[in-house]
Amino acid sequence: MKKLLRIDSSPRKESSISRQLADVLQTKLESEATYSTTYRDTYYDQLIKLGNEDSVTAYFLPEDQQSVSQKEAVSASNILATEFANADTYLFAVPMYNFSVSAGLKTYIDLISRVGISFKYTENGPQGLLKDKKAYVIITTGGTKLGTGVDYVTGYMTTFLNFLGITNIEYINSDLIMTDTEKILDSAKTQIKKLSI
Ligand SMILES: Cc1cc2nc3c(=O)[nH]c(=O)nc-3n(C[C@H](O)[C@H](O)[C@H](O)COP(=O)(O)O)c2cc1C
Repeated sequence: MKKLLRIDSSPRKESSISRQLADVLQTKLESEATYSTTYRDTYYDQLIKLGNEDSVTAYFLPEDQQSVSQKEAVSASNILATEFANADTYLFAVPMYNFSVSAGLKTYIDLISRVGISFKYTENGPQGLLKDKKAYVIITTGGTKLGTGVDYVTGYMTTFLNFLGITNIEYINSDLIMTDTEKILDSAKTQIKKLSI
């Protein structure tokens, strides 16, 4: 059974456009293939609290050289990074916040990008360890057009995913939602339904 990892990042719940679209895509994925689905909420999981001097130091130490407090501090990151590395398919719901991703999603990315789990250093530089994965990235914006010079979400998500070895990325763009919410939401839902999975 394939493993689907859904990652939400909006502070909004019922009214969240990115979560609504991710629901549609998750339903489609689960109806067309057999998945075991895991869910992470990068806003409500309060991930920022997981980072401190011990955890950040431990990221760069082999396990047998970590102190007891470093091991404890890094354990949540180990769990998140291993879960990420073991997934086959990713579903990211990404609202644009001040031209980039929200703080919760950025923190999640910092926690799962780990030497020895998701990438390694080689003499030619860093190399992603994640292979044969597929990522779906839903991006919502209020008034910023995706693909323009001030869109720091699309390029960032591509760079981060490629860095870990994930190159098969499908973007579902739902931008300029403030101009005509219903029309843009319907068009994104249609785009999702037409995806060949
Ligand atoms: C703090 C904050 C910052 C935002 N920054 C931007 C932005 O830079 N560009 C933009 O087009 N929309 C921006 N928006 C609007 C959101 O991207 C838009 O409402 C989107 O639908 C949010 O996703 P959600 O509905 O899943 O919460 C911002 C919203 C908030 C609350």
